[in-house]
Amino acid sequence: MDDLNRLSLARDPDEPQCNTSDNVHLSEVVIRRYGRRDVVKGGVAVAVSTLLAGSAFARPVNDGQPAVAQGAVKTPALVPGFAPVAHNFDDSVVIAAGYSFQVLIPEGTPVLPGAPEYIPGDFNSGADREQQVGGHHDGMHYFPLHRGQRGNEHGLLALNHENVDQFLLHPYGYSNDVPRDPDHARKEVASHGVSIIELRKGSDGWQVVRGRYNRRLTGATVCELTGPVAGSDFVKTKYDNAGYYTRGTLNNCGHGFTPWGTYLTAEENWAGYFITEANPPREKARYGMTGWQGFNWWNVLDADGNPVDDYARFDTHPTGASALDDYRNEGNGFGWIVEIDPFDPGSTPKKRTALGRFAHEGAWVAPVRPGKPVVVYSGDDSRGEYMYKFVSSKPYHPTKANGDLLDEGTLYVAKFHDDGSGEWVALAYGQNGLTHANGFTSQADVLVNTRSAADFVGATRMDRPEWASIDARTGHVYLTLTNNTNRGVAYPTDDANPRAANRDGHIIRWLESGGAHEATTFAWDIFVFGGPTLADTQALGLGDEYAGQVFPGTGQQAYLSADATFNSPDGLWASPNGLLWIQTDGYRDAARGYGNQQMLCADPATGDIRRFLAGPNDCEITGVITTPDGRTLFANIQHPGERGNSTWPRINGETRAQSALLVITKDDGGVVGT
Ligand code: FEO
Ligand code: CA
Ligand code: CA
Ligand code: CA
Repeated sequence: MDDLNRLSLARDPDEPQCNTSDNVHLSEVVIRRYGRRDVVKGGVAVAVSTLLAGSAFARPVNDGQPAVAQGAVKTPALVPGFAPVAHNFDDSVVIAAGYSFQVLIPEGTPVLPGAPEYIPGDFNSGADREQQVGGHHDGMHYFPLHRGQRGNEHGLLALNHENVDQFLLHPYGYSNDVPRDPDHARKEVASHGVSIIELRKGSDGWQVVRGRYNRRLTGATVCELTGPVAGSDFVKTKYDNAGYYTRGTLNNCGHGFTPWGTYLTAEENWAGYFITEANPPREKARYGMTGWQGFNWWNVLDADGNPVDDYARFDTHPTGASALDDYRNEGNGFGWIVEIDPFDPGSTPKKRTALGRFAHEGAWVAPVRPGKPVVVYSGDDSRGEYMYKFVSSKPYHPTKANGDLLDEGTLYVAKFHDDGSGEWVALAYGQNGLTHANGFTSQADVLVNTRSAADFVGATRMDRPEWASIDARTGHVYLTLTNNTNRGVAYPTDDANPRAANRDGHIIRWLESGGAHEATTFAWDIFVFGGPTLADTQALGLGDEYAGQVFPGTGQQAYLSADATFNSPDGLWASPNGLLWIQTDGYRDAARGYGNQQMLCADPATGDIRRFLAGPNDCEITGVITTPDGRTLFANIQHPGERGNSTWPRINGETRAQSALLVITKDDGGVVGT
């Protein structure tokens, strides 16, 4: 296959279909439950509103969020305060009038004290990249370094690096065949992971401070396994016969942050970095360890032509006398939520296994309340996979909470019922049929095989769960369901289903019973469907399946306006000031009103959605957070030019496209979006 085909395969987020269960697909439920016209009447929105009445949550104390949200209970009345931008087909960033952006930390920017400078053309070595910003900037969080105003101008940015474009990374070309260039592999591994970067605002904008907090975590950084899987036979390898340590974190997609001041990074499409034997056990088969990411790191050989342990581990064929002699279990050390302390550069990242093993998009911690459990939402972004949440066994106490709360608790998977209700089913060994008789031998087994356990209990198949976000003022949990091309192909379709082969995606939301995130039942509705305008829908003859685009908050059927047309919602943030930010990772199609990937801003109360920003060619917009005062917003341009059609951002003498951070401010110094 040529490089571009290999590239598109490697980058395609629709990894191989691994869910062969017969579980009901969410779209079927939506349609069975609502006629298309019923959807827009918002019957469930009424139920949700009823549930909502009286619920209020205090924001966590140490969460890097605007102080205005602290204990605030306000009616959702904040309307996006900018004129929307048109869709963009240029290789540039377009932003709403009255706003400016600065491009910061492009791939290769030196991070560590003494790190080598970036060489335009990306002539840096693998050793260089271990000290520089990685690729494919994705989820991120801003941790202020001070209380009060100074914290708005000086903080730590924790930033995920999901992937890398090999054709941009290696200026003299590359091959994935045997033998792979060892420095190429080293540079690719180093381009993955997480950056912790001290940032400070000065008179010329924001700058990187090469201070003591700065850190790179990569696909080779030693991580500790904690929780029920740690020390189990599933994770014993030649590297650690005891099963407590593994090397690296990979495909770091979305993120989370905790009220005790740590960062969570999600291992999403990690399975594609590994190969394995024919007819492997379910902890391999159910995740698609087919090498589809294309890097073939196991092909690195030493000078004598022998495998190199750091890379050979990605080939998980059993070759030794037992699991202690080979890397058959190496993949079981991936697929977790990893906790990182950004304030302690010497700390060992912890893979919190109690939160389950799948293609984690992110880990979104619900607002905490003293004396109540910590709740973490996380979706499995693959076609037909599930939505999960973790509820800690021990309660949250502001003065003594730490990450150990994430080691004991119950992992639940969601069932969405036809009547607008839903339930969380515990994936706990010995419960709900997850017993020895049914092939589950321990909680470690249930967690390593989270997908299989969710299959067993009959969870609802979803249209690729991406980001979730909790509106702290209302308790709504929003979840982007980006698209699902397999709908109606790999699973049965309903003829009445308006979203067969769901190209454009939608955003679902729910409210936990009693307003308690630890509840085991909920009520749900659809917030919005992606799609074209009414005029474009008619011009394209798309038919009734696009008649269901609704904003339940309005109680009216509505098509998206030209100011709001989008597909494939992915990044999402319900900001404490009431604005819902939506970022896309979809396709460009002028006839449907879709330009380059974009960031929109919604008022959840009214359904007013406006395009705030649109990016350069071939990019995804992902990652969104503000400083505590809301006056600086950070968002990432991920993989511009991944198909070779961009040279953005064209700074520092570089002509190759680079992932980079946008630092966005309002020209009048106001809160971004208002
Ligand atoms: Fe990495 Fe599902 O986005
Ligand atoms: Ca994503
Ligand atoms: Ca995506
Ligand atoms: Ca991506």
